[in-house]
Amino acid sequence: FGVASLALAMGIGAPAAFAACDDGEIVIKFSHVTNADKHPKGIAATLLQQRVNDEMNGKACMEVFPNSTLYNDDQVLEAMLQGDVQMAAPSLSKFEQFTKKYRIFDLPFMFTNVEAVDEFQTSEAGEAMKETMVRRGLLGLAFWHNGMKQMSANKPLIMPEDAKGLKFRVQNSDVLKAQMKAMGASPQPMAFSEVYGALQTGVVDGQENTWSNIYGKKFFEVQDGVTETNHGIIDYMLVTSVDWWESLPDDVRDQLATIIQEVTDTRNAQSFQVNQDAKQAVIKAGGVVRQLTPEQRQAWVDLMKPVWAEFTDDVGQENIDAAQAINA
Ligand code: LMR
Repeated sequence: FGVASLALAMGIGAPAAFAACDDGEIVIKFSHVTNADKHPKGIAATLLQQRVNDEMNGKACMEVFPNSTLYNDDQVLEAMLQGDVQMAAPSLSKFEQFTKKYRIFDLPFMFTNVEAVDEFQTSEAGEAMKETMVRRGLLGLAFWHNGMKQMSANKPLIMPEDAKGLKFRVQNSDVLKAQMKAMGASPQPMAFSEVYGALQTGVVDGQENTWSNIYGKKFFEVQDGVTETNHGIIDYMLVTSVDWWESLPDDVRDQLATIIQEVTDTRNAQSFQVNQDAKQAVIKAGGVVRQLTPEQRQAWVDLMKPVWAEFTDDVGQENIDAAQAINA
C-alpha cells in the first residue's frame, strides 16, 4: 500500500508501482465515488476487482479506487480519455458533456422502480445507448443499478411548497436543475464528495439521493429528515475508453466482457435490497424518515412532470413512450 500511495501521490502510473499488479499484467484502474462495501456500485466494483484478479491473474490486474480518492465524477471521464484511468461508473446524470440521450434517466417520475429501469435499459433502445458516446471516445460496457431517489432538507418536506426558496445540491445535470427550479428551489451543482460538508455548514439546505448514498455518506446526520418521494433514479454506466478497449488482446477483452456481464447480472439483482438495508440503517441510526400519502405524493408529481416537455427533443418522444409503456 505504501508504495502504491506514494506512486499515486507522485503521479506515477507504471504497472509495477501497484502492489497488487505483477509485471506484464494489463493494469485496469477503476475510479469511483461511493464506499466499497455497502453500496450497489461499490459492492459491484469490489466484486469485479476480485474476479478479475482471481481469474485473469497473469494477464490483467484491477485496482479500484473508491470514495473519490482518485477522481471525482467531474474529472474522471477526461482522465479516462487521457488514459489515466480505464474504468469508472459515473451516474447517468454525469454524461451531459458527451450525450443528451441519458437525460431520460433524470426526468422525474419517468420510471416507477428499478425493474422498469432495467427493462428499459435491456431493450433495444437501451442497449443502443451504450454506444452513443463512441465518437467521443467513450464506450458503455454495462448499466449498473443504484435505486430510487429521496429528498432531504434541513426542514420537513411534505408538500413541494416546503422546498420553495431552499438551496438543493444537484448533480451537474440540466434536467435536475430544471426539476429543482420547478419546485421553486435553487439548484447548486456540486461534486458528491462535497455534499456532506455543504449540508453541514448550510452552504445548501437539501439534496436528493438514494438510500445507499444518504446512508453511505451520512447525509441524514446533517438533515432534518428524509422524505420517501421515490421521485427519480440514480443509475450508472460502467464506462471505458474506446481506444483502451480496442487495444486489448481479443482473449483478454472477451474474458473481461464475460466477467463484467456476470457481475452486472449478479449485483443488479441485489441493488434494491442494498438500498432497503441502507434505509433501515438510517432509521436505526436515528435518522428521521417521512412517508407521503398518495395525495401528497401526487402534488410532487404534478409539479415536477411538466419538466419533461423541456427535454423531449433531447431524449426522443419514442423513448419516453417506451419507458411509460414499461411502467404501465
Ligand atoms: C451523486 O453525485 O450524488 C451520485 O451520482 C453519486 C453516486 O455515484 O452514486
